[in-house]
Formats: sequence, structure tokens, C-alpha cells
Amino acid sequence: MDLALVGGNPVRTHPFPAWPSFGEDEANSLLEVLRNGSWGGYSEKVAEFESAFSALHRTKYAVSCANGTVALESALHAVGISCGDEVIVPAITFVATATSVLLCHGVPVFADIDPATLNLSPAAAEHAISPRTRAIIVVHFGGQPADMDAFQSLAERHHIALIEDAAHAHGAIWRGLPVGNFGVAATFSFQGFKLVTSGEGGIVITNSSEVAEKVWGYCNQGRRKGGGWFEHFTLGTNYRITGFQAADRANSCARAERRVFSRTVALILRLHDFSARSASRSPPELPGFSSLSTCRVPGRQPGDRDPGTARRRYSRATRLSLSTLPQPAIQE
Ligand SMILES: Cc1ncc(COP(=O)(O)O)c(C=O)c1O
Repeated sequence: MDLALVGGNPVRTHPFPAWPSFGEDEANSLLEVLRNGSWGGYSEKVAEFESAFSALHRTKYAVSCANGTVALESALHAVGISCGDEVIVPAITFVATATSVLLCHGVPVFADIDPATLNLSPAAAEHAISPRTRAIIVVHFGGQPADMDAFQSLAERHHIALIEDAAHAHGAIWRGLPVGNFGVAATFSFQGFKLVTSGEGGIVITNSSEVAEKVWGYCNQGRRKGGGWFEHFTLGTNYRITGFQAADRANSCARAERRVFSRTVALILRLHDFSARSASRSPPELPGFSSLSTCRVPGRQPGDRDPGTARRRYSRATRLSLSTLPQPAIQE
């Protein structure tokens, strides 16, 4: 066994592309904000970025905020989640999907995932519904859209709000429509590992003017657009992003397609190396978004692709069966 991990010759002689990546456009936009002095959340760059992001996802409204966690909290607040309200969340996700419910004084109720797609199972979610259920948060885990036909029908039948946690799924498409169009609101993260990043940041997109206004007010100390700086109509807080973050991300949107490609290829190459060196199996076909699921890595079972998924963005969702993995690293 000659994996580089255990002393063998590395397959790669060049490092993978650095992440996060940036170009002249980002550098110039950041300098522009630095020089024009509009550094805060009311920078024109914020509105510019919000328009670019909603255009990318074909929704009417986008409201940016400090990170993906408070994006979830703001969306839940906007749909009226409060004391004792139950919100169904998937059993596998990042902790924020559930803790954002607690921050609204609601109760997260865990429902199981579908082991094939790693997304929330519609049947398990339906089973978890009680008279106190007010919302479901569906996570498009690892960039793979959940079965939004099933969840839309479920939400309509039970009169509950459907929220998409799309922290991993910038630009993913379900049956021809980008994620963010299937529930009352969708949230995204721009934290450092995400496909579109500015280090930290978040956004809520929606087709409801009422939800957009509520999210904006909550993130802006209870203000109303067009109202005075010291006019506070409801309870809110300060979850604004800065002009610098918005400037960086406006360019990220413009370059999203290119970034997706380079990041996906890097991932496939990693798996290719592992597969070819460790198990003497034929290497996977390169590249193409869906070809990730053709990689033959021992013990690896990629999440199945739901037939409704027209485009998944980047895949980091992987199941490993330890019993079939090569053993040398463990033996040493
Ligand atoms: C599914 C999911 N939801 C929400 C978040 C929270 O995003 P943030 O880290 O920007 O607060 C994350 C972060 O990784 C996530 O993976």
C-alpha cells in the first residue's frame, strides 16, 4: 500500500487551487468601499449584492445578514415562530438548523433523513407533525436539493410554513427552478467553506414582500425601509453585513459558475487520486458535476441523485463504510 498518507509517493505534484479564490474584481471592489467610506450595512454595495443574488435564484427579494445562522433565525421570526412552536428539522444537518429554532423560543423536532439522498425524508417529516407544528426546515444537504414536490405538498396539506436551508446549495436547481422558490423563504451562508463566500455572511431570499420586510426590519433594529434612523417599529436587532462583505460577494455571484467548476473538479481529483492509488480500481470519469457519483472509492457511497435535481452545486455529502476501507492507516 503506497498511499501518500502512509509514506507513498504523492500523486499530485501541484497543490490544489487555493480557497477562497479571488481576482482583481474583488480587490477593486473592496478598495472602492475602503475609499468611498461607506463601510457599513447601508453601503450601496449591499443593495447591489442583494439584487445580484436574487437574480441568480430568480426570487423577488433578498435580504442580507451577518451569517447563515441568523438568516435562519430571521426567517423563522418572519414566519412568526415563537414560544413552544414546533419546527421539524432533519436529523443530519449543521447545528444551526436546530438552534435557530431555539433562538426563536421554538422547539426543534428531529425527523430522519433518507439514507439514499441524505436529505430530510418527507415520510419521516409527516410522521413528526403534531398540532403544535408551525414549520419545516428542509436542508439541501451537500448541495443536493431535497424532494421539494413532496415537501410543498406536505406544507400545503398541513398549513405549515416551509423554509429551505440552502446553506450548501447556492444556485442548485430543482425541476428547472433554483432553490429558494419552493417555500416561504430560503436561507444561505457565505461562511468561509461555502461555494460563494466572503468569510462570513448570510442572506434570506423570498418571493413574499411581507417576509422580506419582516426580515429586513428584524435585521435592522425594527426599522422600516423609508423610515427614520431612530424610528423603531418592532423588536429587532443589528444583523447587518458590512459594505466590504457585500462588495466581495457581488463579484462572487458574477463568478459563481467558474468557481463551482473549479471547486468541483478539485474535489473529483482528490477522489480520483484516492481511488486509483489505494484500491487499484479504474479511475472515475472526469469531470462534470454529476460524475462525482461515479467515483469508485472503496467504502464510499455517494448520496443518490434525486431525479428532480437538475443541478447540484458542490458535493461534500459522502457515506463511508469503514469495513470496506483500506486498512493500513488504521493498522499503523
Ligand atoms: C446546513 C447549514 N445551515 C446553516 C449554517 C449556518 O451558517 P453560518 O455558519 O454562516 O452561520 C450552516 C453552516 O455551515 C449549515 O451547514
